[in-house]
Amino acid sequence: MMESIMNPHLHLLSLIVVVGFVCAKVGEANGQYLIGVGSYDMTGPAAGVNMMGYANLEQNSAGIHFRLRVRTFIVAESSKGTRFAFVNLDAGMASQLVTVKVLEKLKSRYGNLYTEENVAISGIHTHAGPGGYLQYLIYSITSLGFVQQSFDAIVTAIEQSIVLAHNNLKPGSISINTGEVENAGINRSPSAYLLNPAEERARYSTNVDKEMTLLKFVDGASEKSIGAFSWYATHGTSMSRDNKLISGDNKGAAARRLKFSNLLTEIGTLIKKAQTIKATGGTTCGKTTSQGFKVRKNDGSLFVGAFCQSNVGDVTPNVLGAFCTDSGKPCDFNHSSCHGNDLLCVGRGPGYPDEILSTKIIGERQFQKASDLFMSATERLSGKIDYRHAYINFTNIDVELDGNNKVKTCPAALGPGFAAGTTDGPGVFGFQQGDTEINELWKKLRDLLKKPSQYQEDCQKPKAVLLSSGEMFEPYAWAPAILPIQILRLGKLIILSVPGEFTTMAGRRLREAVKNTLITNGNGEFGNDTHIVIAGLTNTYSQYITTFEEYAHQRYEAASTLYGPYTLSAYIQEFNELAKAMAKGEQMMKGPSPPDLSSVQLSLLINPTGDSPPPGVKFGDIKQDINQPKTGSFQKGDKPSATFWSADPRYDLLTEGTYAVVEMLQGQQWIPVYDDDDFSLFFKWTLDNVTFNGLATIEWEVPPQASSGVYRLRHFGSSKKTKDSPNEYFTGASSAFTVS
Ligand SMILES: *[C@@H]1O[C@H](CO)[C@@H](O)[C@H](O)[C@H]1NC(C)=O
Ligand SMILES: *[C@@H]1O[C@H](CO)[C@@H](O)[C@H](O)[C@H]1NC(C)=O
Ligand SMILES: *[C@@H]1O[C@H](CO)[C@@H](O)[C@H](O)[C@H]1NC(C)=O
Ligand SMILES: *[C@@H]1O[C@H](CO)[C@@H](O)[C@H](O)[C@H]1NC(C)=O
Repeated sequence: MMESIMNPHLHLLSLIVVVGFVCAKVGEANGQYLIGVGSYDMTGPAAGVNMMGYANLEQNSAGIHFRLRVRTFIVAESSKGTRFAFVNLDAGMASQLVTVKVLEKLKSRYGNLYTEENVAISGIHTHAGPGGYLQYLIYSITSLGFVQQSFDAIVTAIEQSIVLAHNNLKPGSISINTGEVENAGINRSPSAYLLNPAEERARYSTNVDKEMTLLKFVDGASEKSIGAFSWYATHGTSMSRDNKLISGDNKGAAARRLKFSNLLTEIGTLIKKAQTIKATGGTTCGKTTSQGFKVRKNDGSLFVGAFCQSNVGDVTPNVLGAFCTDSGKPCDFNHSSCHGNDLLCVGRGPGYPDEILSTKIIGERQFQKASDLFMSATERLSGKIDYRHAYINFTNIDVELDGNNKVKTCPAALGPGFAAGTTDGPGVFGFQQGDTEINELWKKLRDLLKKPSQYQEDCQKPKAVLLSSGEMFEPYAWAPAILPIQILRLGKLIILSVPGEFTTMAGRRLREAVKNTLITNGNGEFGNDTHIVIAGLTNTYSQYITTFEEYAHQRYEAASTLYGPYTLSAYIQEFNELAKAMAKGEQMMKGPSPPDLSSVQLSLLINPTGDSPPPGVKFGDIKQDINQPKTGSFQKGDKPSATFWSADPRYDLLTEGTYAVVEMLQGQQWIPVYDDDDFSLFFKWTLDNVTFNGLATIEWEVPPQASSGVYRLRHFGSSKKTKDSPNEYFTGASSAFTVS
């Protein structure tokens, strides 16, 4: 409904301006904490790289819906005092290797100020970002191995955002607020949820957590708001497995929003004016030229707003439910299939069948609640900053259950329900969620890769082992064994960094256990008002965590619960140890460090090795100019587009710059008004089907707020003649057109 033209990290600030909200009362100028925020462009390769999330071999990036960003806040007790950094990452999930490399960079900059113990890097779970940045093999199969460019873009952006936040540290205050988000998530495995004990379910009104927790950061000297971070659980699967445009999905969408004023102008003269302005043809430009055309430049921070992920395991944003694509009827309740076929059962978002609309709507619902919470946040946080962290080898934890019952976790393994996929993205034909058996053909195929040990088969029951990833080490480890767990404390707020996707009930059990442990051991430090949030997909990735009861059903989430039926029990036990240490002021053993597998990664994806335009053409020249409408003027909702001869976007990611701009004529000057970070502007990448040269199509969906006037579309790109030649930069603009 509303279109962002302001800085993505300015959106909440703008809202405050719009409603005339005064941030802090006079007399509260002196802050409790030092606070710093920062944000940086992390958009990876926009062509030819498999996207992380759906494991769909055909889902390779081919353009940009909007850019991906890293957003960081740091809080400290004083300039040398206890602190932590929380990093919100517009990626599917955190990656162990990314975390390792970021920590190395922080160590060389800041010594021991930022370490594994007090840095949390948390993915938003978009399924529309370039993959190949995780080190365990199973997570890089569809990306054909490790993709250096994806990886570097993420590591650099995290480092830069932390540096910005660190340099911004200033006294300020933090408020907390909570409320319920309506209609932005439903349970996608309700038949599994129903297996949890009735008396436990009776304590909750819904089968998903609706609560959003929001922190509001206010600068002490200026009393201006500088940031807002919120946590709420819903999957980043509003964009489907067929989408090829880079996008932050609904959480990224929530983080960029605002409106644009209207101007009334005489349309007839505009049309005549537009007719005289023809496409420019390609011209050369500099490496950073496109940054100057960016509508919202990264000025080092001002306001950073982030929407963080939580216990998202069984929560889908496709809130209309799942239906059979053939009959239109609801799918089988227990298996999410249609007469036995898993591929036919697909969830629908609120904008169905328009997934981009669904993304906006689910983003909007989170944004609206965050805005409400932001404006009504009055409860100031005070008290200690603290943290605890441990590495744990999850393959054989001894878990003590109630009543002295001793059980164990298992090496990682996936069941057939994993292969079935979910209603957000069906997987492989022939599997169903809930399967606890594997047919003989698949068993034979599995055994060619690795026959699971008997120990493993017994340990994982009732999961049937389809892939014994924790027993597979060739050519390098397929699954993580060592996982980091972490507790961050900011006064009464406790953040639990979990390296995966807890289901709703699994998350509730973990939060409750940690709270009880803190209260029991804290000597009055912690009380009923201690507020616990789960930060999902943080520091590394190890798929799902269901409850023991949900595990029995072996739907997708259970089949992807790697370490067996007692995975959740192990988490609760180990988090209780961290909580006890925090409550008693004791230190933790560090535990075994996770491996750095960077030197053994396979990379089979071929990078572009040099490009040239077809004979007689320059990069940036028009291939297909604006298709001028018969009326002479485009209306709101129309989609003027232009296609340029171009080179592969992988030659330069144009970080903090843009591949595409909508320019508006103001007086004699062209002013950029939308760029590739905007909802309304689509940058689409293809190869010409005759010459196989690159083509960049810029499509602008004229938003309702756009002013009447004369516009044109501009493209930026970069090329190399050969693999080792220097980058050459180019730009070109379409003919002008009128919007009325
Ligand atoms: C789902 O499975 C449960 C437990 O096996 C069974 O009781 C129930 O009838 C099934 N529901 C449907 C709709 O098939
Ligand atoms: C984790 O523990 C298992 C079982 O003790 C051991 O075989 C394995 O080497 C350990 N993994 C790592 C990465 O240390
Ligand atoms: C916490 O709340 C529960 C129920 O509301 C109450 O029974 C208990 O006494 C409270 N505990 C503390 C420490 O305030
Ligand atoms: C090439 O693509 C264009 C535009 O998508 C299409 O109209 C045309 O039929 C295609 N030509 C061939 C040879 O596939």
